[in-house]
Amino acid sequence: MSEYKQYINKEPFKTVADTAQELNIPAYIIGGYVRDLLLHRKSKDVDFVVTGSGIDFARTLADRMGKDIEAKYFENFGTAMIRYKSWELEFVGARKESYRKNSRKPIVENGTLLDDLKRRDFTINALSISLNKNDFGTLHDEFNGVEDLKNKIIRTPLDADITFSDDPLRMMRAIRFATQLGFTIEENTLNAISRNKNRISIVSSERVADELNKIVMTDKPSVGFLLLDQTGLLKLIFPAFMELKGVEVVNKRAHKDNFYHTLKVLDNICKTTDNLWLRWSAIMHDIAKPVTKRYDDKAGWTFHGHEFVGAKMVPRLFKKLKLPLNDKMHYVQKMVLLHLRPIILAEDIVTDSAVRRLLYDAGDDIDDLMKLCEADITSKNEIKVKRYLKNFQLVRQKLKEVEEKDRIRNWQPPISGEIIMETFGLKPSKTVGDIKTAIREAILDGEIHNAYEEAYPLMLKIASGMGLEVKDNRHEPKPDTDTIKQDLP
Ligand code: CTP
Repeated sequence: MSEYKQYINKEPFKTVADTAQELNIPAYIIGGYVRDLLLHRKSKDVDFVVTGSGIDFARTLADRMGKDIEAKYFENFGTAMIRYKSWELEFVGARKESYRKNSRKPIVENGTLLDDLKRRDFTINALSISLNKNDFGTLHDEFNGVEDLKNKIIRTPLDADITFSDDPLRMMRAIRFATQLGFTIEENTLNAISRNKNRISIVSSERVADELNKIVMTDKPSVGFLLLDQTGLLKLIFPAFMELKGVEVVNKRAHKDNFYHTLKVLDNICKTTDNLWLRWSAIMHDIAKPVTKRYDDKAGWTFHGHEFVGAKMVPRLFKKLKLPLNDKMHYVQKMVLLHLRPIILAEDIVTDSAVRRLLYDAGDDIDDLMKLCEADITSKNEIKVKRYLKNFQLVRQKLKEVEEKDRIRNWQPPISGEIIMETFGLKPSKTVGDIKTAIREAILDGEIHNAYEEAYPLMLKIASGMGLEVKDNRHEPKPDTDTIKQDLP
């Protein structure tokens, strides 16, 4: 039988098969590519296993393939990678591996194809397709991987305790595949994750973050987070998130469980964005609720300032999770800090100045912020949800009108720091910043128009209140000639 011949009777597989024949070395396509082929998921990353040395095989193949490839050889790992057009081909010799207690790095010996399949993580990843002449295109399925694919099951080929203890990253991979593919983790396999959870400590945080991000990028990440929670892994890799869990009741008054609420917000936002960092903003938006939680008889449960405290917590959490400490992190901080602002607007009568202020603070991220706020509505009360969504429509409308009129998004106030310094003979200082801020605030509040000829006298007034004197009046607006016209009201 050669049931997959039609799928692999093309490049780059044909050249790999020819090379295998020439060298008289058995070669197989293995792992994720085979799984995805059977699931009709497109992929261009292919793993090959050959008996003997994967590196020697790849060197011969690279010679055959000619100039248009890029080849890398990793002698330490006994693997090779060839980039061919848009394909990424990885080669490894069939291995028999044994693992040490405190390292993910195995002791490797040459082995047979079966040895190699046994050491793989899941039955669905232990499928191989032959590239050999006698059975070209035949699927080898030693561990009933096809059956598990059909039944949507994640199961280890060997005793799950061995598979996970050998390489604990596989616990994260099991949960990631379950979330990504909508599969169920078979009971023994799932229980083994709980038993081996502490072994995650030997996995680098970067690898854990990689898998976590893959979970976050699925259509319904809550599935993965719930499995991480259920197996005890979440507490080990992201304890701050676990703090959100639970409901406290005082005088028969309860607050909502912020763990499940956050997961709902995350699932909601995944319907409207593929931006990983906006998804992380959803994860972090209420992260400071546990530390800001208070109860008093009048107000009930409050979480005052959780947006400020949460924004401050983001860098520490990103560092721990080995997420990037760059502009992506600043973006998440900004989203956390601002996440209540549109809601407040939606509750109140929307004034131009509140909208201007929000546009100024959110800048180009305003649309993302609105998405986060809409995702944050998780009430079970449909009337309430409808009312909020309707009000958000109004806020969106108002944002559009004010932006068209005032162009606040990337706006610079009309009086610069240089003008303030030259007019009052000041050096760069806090005073200069204070004057600049006061002018900006007056414009955002609608007290003056965004026009130089109105901002200049206000600057004089503010400075005089601070006891400053004009030292140089070259910036004084001269009617009709020197007026800087802005397109703001
Ligand atoms: N593998 C494993 N244990 C790991 C990682 C990988 O046994 N910790 C094996 C699996 O057989 C897997 C193959 O190596 O199918 C290739 O791994 P990789 O490319 O990382 O994953 P894929 O299964 O291809 O899936 P994805 O690309 O979605 O990560």
